[in-house]
This record gives sequence, structure tokens and C-alpha cells, in this order.
Amino acid sequence: MIFELLTLFPALCDSPFADSILGKAVDKGLIDISAHNLRDWAEGRHKITDDTPYGGGDGMVLKPEPVAKALDDLRSSGPRPRVLLMTPQGVPFRQHHAQQLAKEERLVFVCGRYEGFDERIRTLVDDEFSIGDFVLTGGELAAMVMIDAVARLVPGVLGSSGSAVSDSHADGLLEHPHYTRPATFRDMAVPDVLLSGNHGAIERWRRREQLRRTLQRRPDLLEKAVLSEQDQRWLEE
Ligand code: ADE
Repeated sequence: MIFELLTLFPALCDSPFADSILGKAVDKGLIDISAHNLRDWAEGRHKITDDTPYGGGDGMVLKPEPVAKALDDLRSSGPRPRVLLMTPQGVPFRQHHAQQLAKEERLVFVCGRYEGFDERIRTLVDDEFSIGDFVLTGGELAAMVMIDAVARLVPGVLGSSGSAVSDSHADGLLEHPHYTRPATFRDMAVPDVLLSGNHGAIERWRRREQLRRTLQRRPDLLEKAVLSEQDQRWLEE
């Protein structure tokens, strides 16, 4: 799967994935991550990509033409990309979006900088995403957050294929707690059931813990989660 960033700061996007699981996935050829410098599509000797806002006001606004030209070029070669604009005004990014986007062959992330971008840039993209209700200095970190969340769902990227299935949010609930050795750490013992070898009992315990955690920490998630009758009974206990 191909991930591309369109940015005024391509160097910002170079290294973060190098040593991680995603770096290994790049080495294996499962994913490819690259950054394009928006300035390469800017006109004139000064390669200007921004300008003052019509109507006055502080700050600079990203011009539409360099983005349009860049996207025309990127769309004219290779697999058809889905183009995403990073903006705090976008759709709040959720795990189900990551699952949908992981089915695409190629994603292009348009990263704004400055105070904002010309409104007409919105007409050039397929979707707009926000990674949360806060404002970053640019879309690059937001794009990298999304790339991380999507790339780990690409088949083969995670070592064990089961681990993405049981993720927090994968089924609309938070994940159950995990334990490893030692069996007792600072007087805190691992729950007996996990040492029992009884896989049915372990699965039931994990489901109950998922429900308990979600109820405690994120009750809002329970409204949309798909729950069995047994789940409902456990929640009411
Ligand atoms: N650009 C600036 N802030 C952002 C946010 N919260 N999400 C996505 N892109 C952004």
C-alpha cells in the first residue's frame, strides 16, 4: 500500500517510521511512505505557496494552484489515489475509518500549514479528516498518526495477524487487560483464570473485562457497540 504526503516540510515526514514495525514493513515492501514537497509545484522564481488573506486578517493562506497541480500530477500516474485533507474541521478520525482506508491501494495526505488554506482546496480532495479537537501547526503529524493507524492494518505488517483484530476500538469496545511474567509483581497477582489453561473461561473473562473497562472509561462507546444478550447481562451485573 502506498502512502504519500504533500507538504511544505517533507523532512518532517522522513524518519518517524524508520526503526519501527512500519520501518520493517517498508523494508519488506508491504508499504511505501514518501513525502512530496509542495514547493515543487509552485510558480516563479520564489516558488511562493502562500499569500495574504482576502478581506484582511493575520497570517498567510495556502494558495490553491500548487495543490491543484500537485494532485493533477499525482493522480495522472500510478494507482488511483484517495486524497485526504488534514484539517481540524474534518471528520473525526476513528478506527473504523482506518479499517476502510486500509483497503485502498494508495492514499495521498494533503498537509496544510500557515493559518489555513484557500477554501477551494476543499474541492480537490476526496475526504477531510481531523485527528482531534485541537489545533496543530500543520497537518503533517496528523497525517503520520493516520498512516500509522492504517498501515498496521495492512495484511502482514503486524507480526501476529490476530493482534489487530483484538485491538481497542476494533469491535467498538476497549481491549481487555494484558499480563505477562512475573505472576506476581509488587504484590499484584495475575488473575488466576489466565493461568488456568481453560480457554473458554479465559475468553469469557476477557469479554467481561472489555465490557467492564468500556463501561468505566468510555461509556459513550457502548451506545454504538454490537452487544450479545450475554454482554447485556454482564453489563447489568
Ligand atoms: N491540522 C491542524 N490541526 C489538525 C488536526 N487536529 N487534525 C488534522 N489536521 C490538522
